[in-house]
Amino acid sequence: MRELSLNVLDIAQNSIVAGATLVELVVSEDTVNDRLTLVIADNGRGMTPEQLERVRDPFYTTRTTRKVGMGVPLFRMAAEMAGGELIIRSTVGEGTTVTATFGLKHIDRMPLGDMAGTVSTLIRLNPHLDFVYRHEVDGQSFELDTRILREVLDGVPLSEPDVMEWIDGNMAEGLLPLNRQA
Ligand SMILES: Nc1ncnc2c1ncn2[C@@H]1O[C@H](COP(=O)(O)OP(=O)(O)OP(=O)(O)O)[C@@H](O)[C@H]1O
Ligand SMILES: [Mg+2]
Repeated sequence: MRELSLNVLDIAQNSIVAGATLVELVVSEDTVNDRLTLVIADNGRGMTPEQLERVRDPFYTTRTTRKVGMGVPLFRMAAEMAGGELIIRSTVGEGTTVTATFGLKHIDRMPLGDMAGTVSTLIRLNPHLDFVYRHEVDGQSFELDTRILREVLDGVPLSEPDVMEWIDGNMAEGLLPLNRQA
């Protein structure tokens, strides 16, 4: 995976499989502290401490017939090779928050890639779920919240082509003034 936005798509997919109705995606670029932070937070079923331990150490279970997932380990590797780390907090019945940090200017940090495209794909494929996408660069930020759009749309599905076109345009326009480094 050459772009972090594809890792984000993968991690958000875990949230959807876990039954989340709301997935929050936060990209935060801090040039002063040379830090890129990606957060994927959901209100899905969460994990027990035992499940969480298994996700942290996927190869612990390779001797069993259990499938070993790659989504989380790949994201962790991307963070660690760029001077950062991956932290997962999860509570059964409440949800899961995956936080990955990176050295913003680290030579081995993969580019963020098309984050707006990732958000667009998630909304289009899961129009009944809610997504919040916030992109912060130092003091400035852009936010898209499908809960607000849904209210305004008054029953028109988010997946309507016209609506998706508006969402894509809104993201492109909203991200433009940010001085993005990622
Ligand atoms: N947001 C989440 N909520 C609940 N459980 C999660 C969440 N994210 C991961 N998990 C659990 O951790 C496991 C490992 O996730 P990971 O993405 O590494 O692999 P996978 O989804 O099983 O397979 P792959 O991503 O390779 O298709 C998941 O199968 C799931 O049981
Ligand atoms: Mg996965």
